[in-house]
Amino acid sequence: MTSSRDLLIELEQVVEQNLNRHLATAKEWFPHEYVPWSDGTNFDGPLGGEPWAPEQSRLSDVARTSLIVNLLTEDNLPSYHHEIATLFGRDGAWGTWVHRWTAEEGRHGIAIRDYLLATRAVDPVELERARMTHMQSGFTNAYADQTSLHGIAYVSFQELATRVSHRNTGKISGDPICDQLLAKVAADENLHMVFYRNLLAAAFELDPDAAMRAVCDVVTTFQMPGHGIENFTRKSVQIAVAGIYDLRIHHDEVVIPVLRNVKAMETTGLSSEGEKARDELAAFLGELDRQATRFTEKRAARAARQG
Ligand SMILES: [Fe+2]
Ligand SMILES: [Fe+2]
Repeated sequence: MTSSRDLLIELEQVVEQNLNRHLATAKEWFPHEYVPWSDGTNFDGPLGGEPWAPEQSRLSDVARTSLIVNLLTEDNLPSYHHEIATLFGRDGAWGTWVHRWTAEEGRHGIAIRDYLLATRAVDPVELERARMTHMQSGFTNAYADQTSLHGIAYVSFQELATRVSHRNTGKISGDPICDQLLAKVAADENLHMVFYRNLLAAAFELDPDAAMRAVCDVVTTFQMPGHGIENFTRKSVQIAVAGIYDLRIHHDEVVIPVLRNVKAMETTGLSSEGEKARDELAAFLGELDRQATRFTEKRAARAARQG
């Protein structure tokens, strides 16, 4: 098995190619163009405006919850930057990517917060307090004591999960302006996913055993980046019931597409250790699929009962 450090060096060329591809593909966009500023008015406090009240929000309860979860997740960028920079380093192509990625991620929180405040969609005091609490607890890479491939595998799935979550939140928001804004954010997340997924595919060629182990560990223990948000479990149930992000979506639209793209299940040249990891992964996927079916059946039955 190649050491983590050697693997990062070996991947540097792939990073450079994908960085160039990313820069050629990513289109510049401006968050301010997506925010309905003329809907906005001053708040109470030094400016003496109108205090926030729940009836000012046009969003449904679940749309609000999902937007808040997504925004708080984006807000924790300083912690993600720290983790990614520690993992990949800040030199060469890796470093250029780390800084570019950070700059792109930075506009997501800006765009969503501006939208929520201009439209009075959320309680601004509660939102600010939630941001303070969440950022103060930070985010740590759950795979920090494992290989750098674990980190690459995690972000491949995580960027896609984030993409789907933004996209579906926009769809259920009932506001075409919000939908349009979140589609732009989701498009950024998609390009991030492609970048990391291409690295993961290259890792499967360089060191199939290590890549399989990393993917198995990450998929079987996956948690959303915002899992540290206060009351995250209750919020994620609400988000799942609304069909914004549930086990079926996680299995069908996040885990399976990445595995398929990197041809994980068809990997050849595995040692018995690699085979073991693949078997563990296959067993987990079967169970995830069964749980997803159970969840959607229960949800449909409840919806039928409620007429
Ligand atoms: Fe983001
Ligand atoms: Fe992203």
